Amino acid sequence: MELIDGKKISAQIKQELADEVARLKAEGHKIPHLVAVLVGNDPASETYVASKVKACQEVGFKSTELRYSADMTEAQLLEVVDKLNKDADVDGYIVQLPLPAHISEQKVLQAIAPEKDVDGFHPCNVGKMVSGLPAYLPATPAGIVELLKRYQIPTQGKHCVVIGRSNIVGTPMAVLMSRKSAYADCTVTLCHSRTRNIKDYTLQADILVVALGKPHFVTADMVKEGAVVVDVGIHRVPAAGTKSGFRLTGDVDFENVAPKCSYITPVPGGVGPMTIVSLLQNTLQACKGLEG
Ligand code: GUN
Repeated sequence: MELIDGKKISAQIKQELADEVARLKAEGHKIPHLVAVLVGNDPASETYVASKVKACQEVGFKSTELRYSADMTEAQLLEVVDKLNKDADVDGYIVQLPLPAHISEQKVLQAIAPEKDVDGFHPCNVGKMVSGLPAYLPATPAGIVELLKRYQIPTQGKHCVVIGRSNIVGTPMAVLMSRKSAYADCTVTLCHSRTRNIKDYTLQADILVVALGKPHFVTADMVKEGAVVVDVGIHRVPAAGTKSGFRLTGDVDFENVAPKCSYITPVPGGVGPMTIVSLLQNTLQACKGLEG
């Protein structure tokens, strides 16, 4: 069993990005500028946005965090989006999800200019991704594909089972893994909360991507010997004897599943750091122009 070290790979990519920023600076070009919009004070969202801003600083990108109270109206948020669309200094921006219930996420996401949509959530970018055209790829699935690539894990003709059908992870992951390209080319099965006898599918997986948001959902009896397991889940669970009183864990029962795997991502330090560098890669691309 080999651990897929997302922390190490993300550090390598951050170094590559920092080198690219230094080159852009030396040649007198614009430095990438990412804006993160945060509405309300959901603790997980606050942590994610803080990590994104910190990562920008680490690679030399300009970053701006825009914070608004949870009671802002949808019209006010759409105004912010409109301003960001028109601001030439902003290369890319994200609106952190989830949004408060009174604001339509789809309405907001569809108002983002597709060329600044570095999350890759706008239907234009989703459509381009599905068609195999240049597009901003959603950060988590793109980060997972990058991990498979950097570990040179064979994918062609393999059976990839994805658990979870969210727009952010599961659905785009299934699309990317089924594409005809290097580090894809899989036969893909997409399982979700309504899948019956899910173990029948997971036991067939050469590559199992778990993104359903339930701590320790995948147990050892659900995994084939030698499988590659990618755990997208991240949960705080109480842990006696730790300073904070909790520890982070994933959707996979790591302790018991890991011995069966050829490769597995840990939580934390697996997929999480890759999500952030994918966003940085998209922002660099937005600064340089998607086709350039
Ligand atoms: N909420 C959870 N993941 C994400 C993400 O990748 N982007 C945004 N904008 N919100 C999220």
